[in-house]
Amino acid sequence: MIYWWRQRTAIYRTFSCAITLAGACLLASCGSLAAPVMQAATATSDVIQQSVDEATATLPAPATPVPPTVTSTPPPTATPTELPTATPEPTSAPALSPIDRLVAVRDPFNGGMLFGTFQDAANYACSNCHLSDSEKENLGPGLLNIKERAATRIEGMSAAEYIYQSIVDSKAYTVEGFDAELMPQNWADIYSELEIFDIVAYLMTLEGRSDIDDPDPAPEDEASG
Ligand code: HEC
Repeated sequence: MIYWWRQRTAIYRTFSCAITLAGACLLASCGSLAAPVMQAATATSDVIQQSVDEATATLPAPATPVPPTVTSTPPPTATPTELPTATPEPTSAPALSPIDRLVAVRDPFNGGMLFGTFQDAANYACSNCHLSDSEKENLGPGLLNIKERAATRIEGMSAAEYIYQSIVDSKAYTVEGFDAELMPQNWADIYSELEIFDIVAYLMTLEGRSDIDDPDPAPEDEASG
């Protein structure tokens, strides 16, 4: 086996050697041929012109493979088709709206202060009509756990979006059993956009044990107190 392999390698070596020699001979003959041609060419400018023409004529030929440009065009067409298909996937993951994102970085403490501040232009404070520590109704619905209810009020609207709309355009949705006319309509004139986002951020923090769905704790408290 090894012997056979060595023999083969030897044959290849001999073969490639022969090819190299043949190539060298060819180059040598070419060189010796080129020399007289060059000498003759320098003699007449016509011959030079001719060879220049020939050279120029041969140059465009390699340039003709320009079709590669045609071949390269299809790939770009394929790439844009793939990219838009891939984009929707990552986009669908973080589906936070501008309001969601803004409310998330606003100041709930300031929102709580504004919620309790009497405003002449409305003749009310939010807290005059809404309880923040209870789900029970006052003039308006109780706002404890409003985040949960707000998320289910309007299909496709996040909790923050719904609460924001409830403040700037309360008539867009009327809570069952309440008078849509009662809540002042001018909060967007009274509070700046960012102040309203503060109030929304505050309302989103109102979480606690339900005192409507689970009224049992009340009698217990009375009994123990
Ligand atoms: C004069 C009373 C009154 C005042 C003041 C008032 N609201 Fe209201 N609010 C209501 C009433 C009544 C409703 C229910 C009718 C409706 O949905 O439009 C309501 C609804 C809401 C809702 C929707 C509640 C739900 O369960 O869907 C939110 C949120 C809200 N108000 C926030 C506020 C905030 C914040 C302020 C202050 C900037 C405010 N309200 C001031 C009376 C008031």
